[in-house]
Amino acid sequence: MRRTQVGIVGAGPAGLLLSHLLARAGVDSVVVENRSRHHVEHRQRAGLLEHGTVSLLRDAGLGARLDAEGIEHGGIYLQFAGERHHLDFRALVDRTVTIYAQTEVVKDLVAARLADGQDISFSVSSTAVDAIATDRPALRWVDEQGRQHEVECEAIAGCDGFHGVCRPSIPAAARREYQRDYPFAWLGIIADAPPSTDELIYAHHPDGFALHSVRSPYVSRLYLQVGPDEDIGAWPDERIWAGLQRRFALPGWTLREGPVREKAITPMRSFVNTPMRYRRLFLAGDAAHIVPPTGAKGLNLALADVAVLGEALTALVRDGDSRLADAYSDACLSRVWRATYFSSWMTSMLHPVPGDDFGTQVQLAQLRHVTSSPAAAAALAENYTGMPLRIRAPGRSVPSTPPPVPGSAAAPSPPSSRGTGPR
Ligand code: FAD
Ligand code: DHB
Repeated sequence: MRRTQVGIVGAGPAGLLLSHLLARAGVDSVVVENRSRHHVEHRQRAGLLEHGTVSLLRDAGLGARLDAEGIEHGGIYLQFAGERHHLDFRALVDRTVTIYAQTEVVKDLVAARLADGQDISFSVSSTAVDAIATDRPALRWVDEQGRQHEVECEAIAGCDGFHGVCRPSIPAAARREYQRDYPFAWLGIIADAPPSTDELIYAHHPDGFALHSVRSPYVSRLYLQVGPDEDIGAWPDERIWAGLQRRFALPGWTLREGPVREKAITPMRSFVNTPMRYRRLFLAGDAAHIVPPTGAKGLNLALADVAVLGEALTALVRDGDSRLADAYSDACLSRVWRATYFSSWMTSMLHPVPGDDFGTQVQLAQLRHVTSSPAAAAALAENYTGMPLRIRAPGRSVPSTPPPVPGSAAAPSPPSSRGTGPR
């Protein structure tokens, strides 16, 4: 039987970055992925990197194309009741975010791993994890040619997304799930149309929410709130553009249209599995938690998890020190719940529910609050641009990056100087 130190299930952003970080620390891994390389590199998903995520990728030697092609944004627009308001993140919290699509993060990671001689098996089937309660768990799969493989590991990282096999391998009595489904979904398109805005627009409209994001100077990414069971077939391109035009409409401003390259509907869900570890099986990214996309936390959380997991597994399998592994789940979950709270708050503020007039008035009051109170605006900006990446774990001091913002929950300050918005 083959051996490796860490078996990694899933070559999404979490699995690939984990393998990269482990290799830099001298730890061997095997990565198995049930989709093709082309599929994982072209799957349209997230597009926005938090301040700390950009630093993490740069520090891991993955910053070259990100720095050349990433688009730095210093704020967002919130549009409601026929007006568009700007939130200036640089002025509010001295931080920015960067537009760099998940497809590009994955391409950079795959290229770096393959250049390093990493063993990534794409297009596998029948992935299974076994003996996870022992010190020698096993990873099994069938390769593209139909050959069976089994690798003995010292730890397994379940980076296999929400529908993967790792989380269900943990005995039900050893874990707990928390879930909320939202009564709407997002219809997302990629269009060959130059962006009509310099920074993202989050629009609240009686017809529903809309988001104008960007991918490049020539490509726009746009989203439209639709019903939870909406059929994409009922949305020809003309209907999508008409919906977007109405929701973003503002005198003197034009939404540029162009050919729609891709369109898909994404359900909206919050989900957290606790703990994120069972013996020698560690969950990371969407395998452990899902957030609704409003606020773009999913990809950032996945990368933050593996930054912590990379250190924990290195200490465990290279140095025989289990303290960081023991602290892994709690260290990640405090960040996960914070992002879960923020995503759910942003989602609830921006998506009108048909027939809920009371709810709509509360949303408008929230939007007026965050666009008129510097304290509420700073709280949104602090959460949106990202929490510190590394969290202090028991028995070890890990520096926090970026440093806490004065007046934030992370920095000591008198209660009277704190904002009243989301924390
Ligand atoms: P994934 O990217 O899901 O990677 C898991 C990998 O494991 C996949 O490649 C999968 O094929 C593989 N896998 C699964 N099962 C197996 C198995 N049995 N054996 C081997 N491999 C397996 N986030 C945002 O922040 N903003 C957005 O706009 C946004 N849009 C999204 C749209 C969609 C349709 C989806 C599904 C997610 C979106 N997200 C968004 C969330 C974000 O993309 C995820 O949080 C991010 O991909 C998580 O990375 P991950 O590596 O944990 O999981
Ligand atoms: C994007 C997606 C989001 O959910 C968001 O809040 C911001 C940007 C994007 O795909 O670019």
